[in-house]
This record gives sequence, structure tokens and C-alpha cells, in this order.
Amino acid sequence: MPCPTRSDELVFFVNGRKVIERDADPEVTLLTFLRKNLRLTGTKYACGRGGCGACTVMVSRHDPSSKKIRHFSVTACLVPICSLHGTAVTTVEGVGSIKTRIHPVQERIAKSHGTQCGFCTPGMVMSMYTLLRNHPEPSEEQLMEALGGNLCRCTGYRPILASGRTFCMASNDCQEKGKGKCCLDQEEKDSSSLDRKSEMCTELFVREEFQPLDPTQELIFPPELLRMLENPEKRTFTFHGERVTWISPGTLKELLELKVKHPEAPLILGNTSLGPAMKSQGCFHPILLYPVRISELYVVSKASDGLTIGAGCSLAQVKDLLAETVSSLPEEKTKAYRALLKQLKSLGGQQIRNMASLGGHVVSRHCYSDLNPILAVSSATLNLISEEGKRQIPLNEHFLAGLASADLKPEEILESVYIPHSHKWEFVSAFRQAECRQNALADVNAGLRVVFEEGTDTIAGLSLAYGGVGAATISAPQTCQQLLGRHWNQLMLDEAYRLLLEEISLPGSAPGGKVEFKRSLIVSFFFKFYLQVLQELKELRRLFPKSDSCHYPEVADRFLSVLEDFSINLPQGVQTYQCVDSHQPPLDPVGRPIMHLSGLKHATGEAIFCDDIPVVDKELAMALVTSTRAHAKIISIDSSEALELPGVVDVITAEDIPGTNGAEDDKLLAVDKVLCVGQIVCAVVAETEVQVKRAVEKIKITYKDLEPVIFSIEDAVKHNSFLCPEKKLEQGNIEEAFGKVDQIVEGEVHVGGQEHFYMETQRVLVIPKTEDKELDVYVSTQDPAHVQKTVSSTLSIPINRITCHVKRVGGGFGGKTGRPAVFGAIAAVGAMKTGRPIRLVLDREDDMLITGGRHPLFGKYKVGFMNSGRIKALDIECYINGGCTLDDSEMVTEYLILKMENAYKIRNLRFRGRACLTNLPSNTAFRGFGFPQGTLVTESCITAVAAKCGLPPEKIREKNMYKTVDKTIYKQAFSPENLIRCWNECLVQSSFHSRRLQVEEFNKKNYWKKKGIAIVPMKFSVGFAATSYHQAAALVHIYTDGSVLVTHGGNELGQGIHTKMLQNACQVLLKRLEPIMKKNPEGTWEDWIEAAFEQRISLSATGYFRGYKAFMDWEKGEGDPFPYYVYGVACSEVEIDCLTGAHKKIRTDIVMDACCSLNPAIDIGQIEGAFVQGMGLYTTEELKYSPEGVLYSRGPDEYKIPTITDIPEEFNVYLLPSSHTPLTIYSSKGLGESGMFLGSSVFFAIIDAVTTARRERDIAEDFTVRSPATPEWVRMACADRFTEMV
Ligand SMILES: Cc1cc2nc3c(=O)[nH]c(=O)nc-3n(C[C@H](O)[C@H](O)[C@H](O)COP(=O)(O)OP(=O)(O)OC[C@H]3O[C@@H](n4cnc5c(N)ncnc54)[C@H](O)[C@@H]3O)c2cc1C
Ligand code: FES
Ligand code: FES
Repeated sequence: MPCPTRSDELVFFVNGRKVIERDADPEVTLLTFLRKNLRLTGTKYACGRGGCGACTVMVSRHDPSSKKIRHFSVTACLVPICSLHGTAVTTVEGVGSIKTRIHPVQERIAKSHGTQCGFCTPGMVMSMYTLLRNHPEPSEEQLMEALGGNLCRCTGYRPILASGRTFCMASNDCQEKGKGKCCLDQEEKDSSSLDRKSEMCTELFVREEFQPLDPTQELIFPPELLRMLENPEKRTFTFHGERVTWISPGTLKELLELKVKHPEAPLILGNTSLGPAMKSQGCFHPILLYPVRISELYVVSKASDGLTIGAGCSLAQVKDLLAETVSSLPEEKTKAYRALLKQLKSLGGQQIRNMASLGGHVVSRHCYSDLNPILAVSSATLNLISEEGKRQIPLNEHFLAGLASADLKPEEILESVYIPHSHKWEFVSAFRQAECRQNALADVNAGLRVVFEEGTDTIAGLSLAYGGVGAATISAPQTCQQLLGRHWNQLMLDEAYRLLLEEISLPGSAPGGKVEFKRSLIVSFFFKFYLQVLQELKELRRLFPKSDSCHYPEVADRFLSVLEDFSINLPQGVQTYQCVDSHQPPLDPVGRPIMHLSGLKHATGEAIFCDDIPVVDKELAMALVTSTRAHAKIISIDSSEALELPGVVDVITAEDIPGTNGAEDDKLLAVDKVLCVGQIVCAVVAETEVQVKRAVEKIKITYKDLEPVIFSIEDAVKHNSFLCPEKKLEQGNIEEAFGKVDQIVEGEVHVGGQEHFYMETQRVLVIPKTEDKELDVYVSTQDPAHVQKTVSSTLSIPINRITCHVKRVGGGFGGKTGRPAVFGAIAAVGAMKTGRPIRLVLDREDDMLITGGRHPLFGKYKVGFMNSGRIKALDIECYINGGCTLDDSEMVTEYLILKMENAYKIRNLRFRGRACLTNLPSNTAFRGFGFPQGTLVTESCITAVAAKCGLPPEKIREKNMYKTVDKTIYKQAFSPENLIRCWNECLVQSSFHSRRLQVEEFNKKNYWKKKGIAIVPMKFSVGFAATSYHQAAALVHIYTDGSVLVTHGGNELGQGIHTKMLQNACQVLLKRLEPIMKKNPEGTWEDWIEAAFEQRISLSATGYFRGYKAFMDWEKGEGDPFPYYVYGVACSEVEIDCLTGAHKKIRTDIVMDACCSLNPAIDIGQIEGAFVQGMGLYTTEELKYSPEGVLYSRGPDEYKIPTITDIPEEFNVYLLPSSHTPLTIYSSKGLGESGMFLGSSVFFAIIDAVTTARRERDIAEDFTVRSPATPEWVRMACADRFTEMV
């Protein structure tokens, strides 16, 4: 069959408009096409690998078999445009717009405060919108499922879910909420707290204001497409790109002919396997075969003995089909289907399940595949087809290992998968353990199946398959063989462990490491399977008493809870804050939960971020070339090959910098040597993004490795490699105090680093102007002044020629403080050299590789205390890993030392800290600035003391907390009154004492599952110990038409600063206009402004806030560095599975002293968002490096920030009422950073549960504390016979 040389026309619809592409390039994704070609920039790029959901759009496709339109969400970054022929795409712009009509989904997410920086919002809107198109009144489970693939780094998800819940059919919203009472109020609350209820509010939005959802208002499927699809063309469509040809055959016959002609060409379906491989692993396929129109691949047939599912069916369709089958067939027939369904619920996010095909999944044979282990043990068969005819092969270990004799031939394709029904004496189970509960690839998964001789417990067949433990799914045939004929009892079990561990050997180089953890999971899963089957056998004996002649071992109830998987429920909670005074005029917005000023624009995609700025004339794309060595001399940089590529304009090196190349020890572009993998060596500029990326690959740098190479804190200490001198604070006489105490404990604490993972990666657009070397710099930064200054010194031109524009930032968290200046300066050098605008947008991989994050910390402590739990002396020495340059490391060291005492008054203290110089990218500012790491050491001392005293940690905390007006370690006086109030309120709000008893009761009854509860106080000092930081200015103009312009020095990062500024600005202006308003109370705003102008009342004002005079004398160890403290207390309860290390967050209560909140919705949003980010730091976010110092975790697949299913099932926030601080604007407090540390309450709840498990198993209770408490850490800390076996 000849392959036409001319491309066909690609026809699809976007937001109701027809798109015709005459030269569609198969390598162009829908995301690029929307953003670059159609200028629809509402759809965002954040990872490019399907893992974050920022690029979610809805695709509507006509299903010829059901004759229905199927709407499904997809991640546009993985959708090649060529796959869209005949479909309709809806983007956030097509859902609604401020200019025309906003959609209820958009309205509700904005008004429920579900947006902060707004970068994830369009994706969230699209996931929710697609759900509502399919289910106008969804269930809560469907809502959770729909949003499981969307990440948000700001909000902590609670308000997003609150907006979604307003559409759900059986909303669990408490009816009493809003009346100051709620069913979640616990009986334990004392009368003082109830008395105050009348002045407390619990509504952050008014539900009654929302427009109803009207499904008839939605965009219809384009009739033109419908007509086209009703009479489908059977001919082959071909699209030729620059390098790749896309062929979409119309019939099976043609497809099979093409497969003969192009045996190496892969079939492309969901592109969720091929796409990431082509992007990140350099795989390249010149021909792609797209079989979407081959109806044979979508056939589902149900026979009396099993199900045959077409290979083209998406995993979402497979899930629906299995759910339907499970509900319609007798239970005994559906065991394999249930196991598959269980895995499908947590496989990827909804978008991935919508795109990925069953065939693609099976044939990809990923080692982490969740379905292949079950299909393998369930004797599934693959139905293959080629021009030669049809044949079947078993989906067995040989196929999974890729043995040529058991594989598809190059000209064959997979037509369908046959999965037989199970039968009465057959049992199939699925297990999986991943870094978080959903949307994470499994560390280990398993499909386990046993068949018994009828009516007995004698094993007649056994199949065991594991994923994640080798290069492919692995089975254990020898173990299975040897256990045949054995009874299902303890003897068999012990033998099975031994055989399994012998047979499945995991070398140290196993994918992802974690060898011992994985080996323990292999046996733990088998143990769970054993118990599960035993229970089911007992049930069978009950139902068929005659058929049973054997005795099943009894299993005590306390061992059985391990069989229940943690359920996923829609989180709920109450947010309580002090209502505004009843005398406050309704027009005065201060203290009210006003929506984020850009909320609606975020939700409609109309909010413009840096890279949404349209392409400017003659614009070039820039990409960075980074070091692949950790410490090396640069011998040469050869750009010749890159410069020869089409479109490449120039390569920028240090030699091109006209001014200063950064600092001596922190160069913008490397000169002579590199200090870490990821250091920027040079930059390439080319006409297009694609060309520049190809050119980067061709730059050849030769290195000569240098010694030493230091990565860890331990190595840095050994080599005396430090960035700055030690910082120290001391009070009392520590040595003397150690001599007088009852007990002394020494220990170590390790706190891992953290990636900012702002959803918007670093990006900058530099536009040179024609006059006077002026430059416009559009940049995503928290510190435009720093960018401006750095560009100026790099180019050697005055600051006043450089204008920095920052409309908004898609999340920063400290990561966009220093680094954007580097990117801005390099882009500016490129712009100056070429005389053309330069756009630099970092890939997620590059962003994570190049920029550092939170400093990892290693702390050693020695604590002396009385048997009563009173701590008399505490000595902490800690080291942070600063990376290869100073950056903010000295300041971070200072801050962690200053703040380390947290809420405790300990008379004899010594805190020492040092920043280590290592060959890793430089670590930098991150929300909390050292406090979340340092204070974890202090709190770990508390738990160690508690263990030694045999007292619960909360008693030790209470005993040692500041109680009266006192001085801190740096001798600053303060009153802890509100700290104590927060503590007491949190004890009440969380019903702590009764729940502590319930936890203990639960733990007595359950051996393998343990609950833990922890309440943690916080004293967080706000501000910097430099007076110049404590100032702010604003300029307000009212124009004669009544519109107002507010200019101020703050940056909008999602924290709602503009919203709060407007609330303030209004207050100032109202005062000035008061006489006019009084005179004409019926007048409009415009009338008053006109009158004010007539009366020559100034309609402009400046505001200047000269803040605190802060200082710190490190020589003397005393100062007045902070204007005020934020006090807070969090109580969290968790449940852990000791066999897998998984945990579930049951409940969190936070009480925070926000003083007089300017905007409770924004402040509660900051607290919740920071808490969830802190939870990520302490539980799931783990940076992984190769032995050569290359960061492995460079995207959402490998680096797990919390997802929607990770937040506490009950999540309450309570702002302490009647609190004031004289030093701040309207007595408000800055709440952006402090909540981060409160996430440690989850960590300490996990520690509490682990300690209980260890106590029960008679193992030492004082163990080395390691954050994050990943499933691996929890599993190995709950040591038992399984961990001993490995
Ligand atoms: C963000 C993300 C999260 C994920 N999470 C999980 C997870 O939690 N668990 C898990 O198990 N998997 C997960 N996956 C992997 C996913 O399940 C697979 O990528 C997917 O099933 C592959 O299907 P596809 O249709 O996209 O394949 P494609 O990428 O289109 O194709 C993959 C391969 O299959 C071949 N192929 C496809 N169909 C046929 C056929 N009919 N006959 C012959 N060959 C065929 C192609 O030639 C190609 O080589 C995830 C993937 C992503 C991107
Ligand atoms: S999923 Fe597409 S950008 Fe992240
Ligand atoms: S609002 Fe979700 S990432 Fe910022």
C-alpha cells in the first residue's frame, strides 16, 4: 500500500471553532498547539509528562458502536495533535469567560477560594467540568476520582474540594454550618469555647450566590463533525512532519499491511508510554501507526467463561466495564476482575486512565505495571493478529520478560485480551504500595492467585507475580511449584517466605533502590494474601459445610484489620474565624473573606502569566546547557555542531557577558570549572523551542574531574567543607545543668530537603528596546528588584534602563527569590548579543535539576531532664547542606538557630549551626526558612524525653512550654499568652484527651494497624533581623471615573497581597471621602469621586509603613530581631499499616493566632496550603540522587508532592479570636510561612504510631528520627519478623 507523500488535512474543533491544519506535525502536542498556534494560553505547561494535570482539557469523541459522544479529560501535553482528527476539544476558555459568561464551575472554584496563584486552576476547572458533563450530579467518590490527577501546590486542596462538593448529589456539608454550630463540634468542648461561638463565623463563601448548573447551556458536539463521523471515511490519513510520519489507517486490513511494511513502527494509542519515552529518554520513531478507527480493537465480548476486551479500550473504559461485570456476575467468577478494578482505581490520574489503552499498557510491560501481574496470574491470553492470521499467546512471565519466543512478532498487533472468569476454589488478590496513596507509581505491586482442590485447603495451583522488583514483572514459578499440594497453613506460609525471598533476588541496583523495603513487601503481601484467603475459605466452609474436611487455623481478630485497605473519602472540615464587628459598615471590606482579586481570571484562564505573553516580533527561544559533572575542570566547549543545526542563532557563554558574571564564587555561567551537576555552563538561542532543544543535545563539553566530590553533610563535615562560620546561641550553664539531671538522652535527626515544585516553572522574557540599551524584563519572580539589579550589573548598564514586569507568579515559596535573577541575566545577555527578544522557559526536569531547594539538615542533640519530664538542658548541633554556593545559607543557619527553641522555656540551652559546602546545586530560601527543619530536631528531643520518662509527648510539651512573660534565647521579651490560648483551644477543638484514649483502645485491638496522635505547638517569629526589610510603600490613585489604581511593592504569588491591599486601600479612601458620602448618602461611588474632584480633595495618596527596628548581635547572642510571633498548634491523627508503611491521615485540627485577619479566607488558605506543603516535606517528598550527584527525582513521577487524596479526612482550622498585636497593619499577621511547620503534627502522629508498634514488639522506642517518614521508613521502623527475614 503506497504511503502518500502529501499530508492530509487534519480537522478538529476547539471550543466550537473548526481547526484545519494542512501541515500537521505529529511531534506537536495539543498543549503546544493551543498555546502557540491558537493563543489559548489558559491551558498551562507545568510538567509535560502527564503527571500534574495543569494542561487538562476535555476531548469529545463520537463512539461509533454506542453512537454516543464520549467526553473525557486528557493531559494536553501528551496528546499529539494528529490524534485529534474528528474530535472536539474544549479548553478552559471554551467553558466560560469573564467577557461573556462564567461557568458555575469557574465561579464556584473562585468564590470558594480554591485558587491562590491560579496556575493549577484551569486544569482543576477542566477536570471538574468534564466530570459534570458526564455526571451533572456526581458522587463524592467521582469528584475525588476526577481530581486525583491534578496537583496544586498552594491551596492544600480543601477549598477546591469544597467548590466541587457544591455540585455533588449527597453533599455531606453540615446543615448547621454557618449558624455557628456544626455536627463536627465535639462534646468535649468546654463552655467557654461554646460561649464565644456567637461571634465566630464558619462560612467562607455564600452558597446561595452561586448560579445553578444548567447542562443545556454547554457547547454541543459540532454537527459538522457528527455528520462526518456518521459516514466515516475508511481511507488512510497521513500526516508528514519534519521528522515523523503519522499514519492512521481506516481498516484493520490496512493496519496489518502497514505493520508488515513498517514492522518497527509502534502503534500509538494513549501516548502515555511512548510520549514520556520520546520526551525524556530520547526514543525516536520516524513512523507512528494510529489505529483509533479500527473498530476491531474496541470490541468487548462477554462469554460464559470470560471477558475479551479490545486492546484499544482505554483503561477508564476497562474500569467501567469491570465494575459493571462485577456487579452482574456471581462473586466467585469475578475475583480477577475485582483485583484489576482495585488497581485501576489508583492507577495514574483520571486523565491518564482516559488516554491509556489496555493494549498499550500490556505491551509496554513497564516493571511497575499494576495490571500485568494480575493478568499474568489470572491466565489471561493475548489475541494477536497479523496478515498471516490470528493466534493466541499467554500473558505469562516469558511474555513479560520480553522473550522473543513468547512475544508479538514485529508484524503482529494485539487485538484483544481475554481474561477468564475465576471459580469457587480460586482466589485472586492485588496489592500495591506506592509513595502516596494515589497517582503514584507502585514501589512494589503484586497479583497473587491460588487454586485449591475442591472442598479442601490443598493447593492445586499457585501463581505469584510481582512488579517493581526487577526490570519487568517477575513471577516466582519455583516457589509456586514447590508449594503445590501443601495445606494453606502456617507451615506453608513459613516455607513460602523462605522460597520467595530465595527466588526473587533484588540486587542493590534494583529500580529505585529500597531493596530491603521491597523484599519486606514481597513477603508482607504474601502474608496479607494468606490471611485474606483464609478468611474467604472459612466463609466458604460456612456456606458449604459438607465440602470441607479440614481445619483452618484460627486468626485472632487483632490481626485481621490489616486486610482492610485504607478508604479514600472526600475530606471535610470547618473553618472558624472571628466575625467582623456588627457595627462595621457593610462597605468596609477589612476582615471579610473576600475572594482573591484574580480568582475569576484564574478560573477562566484569562489571568496572564509570564509565558502567556504573546510571541513578540523576532523572538528567539533560549535553552540552558548544564554540567553533567559534580566537580570538574572545563577543558573545552564545542558548539560547532549545534551552530550548524537549522534555526540555531547563537551560543552564549561567559565570554559574552559585558559586565559582571555573578559573584566570584557564584557565577551566572561557569568559567573554567563546574561545582555541581546542573550548573549552567552556556545557553543556546534558536528560532524555535524545538530547534533550541535539539541544539542543546549537540553541545559537547569535555571535563576533567576534580577532587574532592562531596554530596552529603557527613562528607562535608569530614572534609571541613563549610560555607560560613558557625552560628551559635547559648544561655545558662549547659555543662553544669547536665550534671544535675536525672537522665540524659543523645540522638540524631535527619531532615531531607524539599523541592519548591511551584507549578509555574522558572521563566523569563527579555525584550531589548531600540533606545538607550533599555530592556523590558517579564519574569516570574518574588524579587523583581534583585532581577533588575543583576541584569544591570551583568550588562553593565544602569538600573533605570531596566524595567521588570511581574504581573503574577505561579507559585514561588522562596524558590523565585534568588534564581530568577540568574535566568533573567542570562536571557538579557542573549538579548543584548543578538539584539532580539529572548524567551527562556525551563522544563520541569531542568528546573528541578538546576535550582536548589530547602536545605537538608542533620542534627545531633543531647538533652538532660528530670524524671518528671522537665527539661533542664538542651544542646543541639546541626548542619545544613548548602550546596555549592552561599546563596541564603548563612541566613537560613541564623534563622534556624534563632527559632529552634520553638515554644519551650529551657533554662540551659546551646544551639550551634553550620552550612556545609557540597557539590550539589545551591540550596536557597524556602517557606519557613530553616524553621521547619530545625524545630523538627527540638520536637524530636521532646519525643525522646517522653519515651524515656514513659509519658506521652504532649505532657512533656506542656510541662516545658513558655507560660509567662519571658525572654527568648536571644533575650527578646515576649508574652506567650496566645501560645497557651492556642494550645488549650486546640486540646478542646480536637477533643484531644478522649481521642488519645480511643487511639490507645484501637491499638490494643489491632496488631498490624496502629493509630497515632500528636499535638504540636509553634512559636514562629516573623520578619528578618534587618531593619531595612521592615518597610513597605504604596501609591493609590483614584481616577475621575471612579476607578482606582493601587501600586505597591509586594508581589502577587497567590498569597492574595493585591486583594488585601485593595481591602486596605478602600479603608483609607473611604475615610477621605466620608464627608462627601455623608452629605450625599444616596449617591454612587462615581458621584462621590466627581464631587471630591470638584472640591479639590486629593484623589492620590501614598502609604508608607516604617516597620520594626530589628537587630541581632551575634557576638553577644542577643537582639530584638522580630516584631511579633505567630502562635499556632496543630493536632493530627493518623493510622499506619505496619506491613506496608502506608498511612492515612484521619484528622487535623489547627488553631492559629492570626490576630485580626484582614481576610480570613486568604489567611486560612495560607495556613492550609502551608500545612499541606509541610506534610509533604515530612512524609512524601524525597529527593533522590545518583552516586554521581545527578538528581533522579526530576518530575511529578519521581517526586511526590501531596495530592488531593493525601489531605486529612477531617481538616479543621480555627483562628483564635480576640487577639491583637500593636505593631502591624490593622493588627494583622503574616501567615504565609508558619503553617509549614504544623505539618510536622502528621509526622509526630506517625512517630507515635510507630513507637506504639515498636513498644508492642519489644523494640527500642528511641530510634533515629528521619524525615520524610516515607512508607519505606515507616515499614522498616515497624520492625518485625518480615523485616528480619530480608
Ligand atoms: C503520568 C502517568 C502515570 C501513570 N501511572 C501509572 C500507574 O500508576 N500504574 C501503571 O501501571 N501505569 C501507570 N502509567 C503507565 C500507563 O499505564 C501506560 O503508559 C499506558 O497504559 C500505556 O498505554 P498507551 O495507550 O498510552 O500506550 P502508548 O504510549 O500509546 O503505546 C505504548 C506501546 O504499546 C504498543 N502498543 C499499543 N497498543 C498496541 C497494540 N494494540 N498492539 C501492539 N502494540 C501496541 C505501542 O507500540 C507502544 O510501543 C502511567 C503513565 C503516566 C504518563
Ligand atoms: S500533565 Fe501536562 S503539563 Fe503536567
Ligand atoms: S493555586 Fe494551585 S498551584 Fe497555585
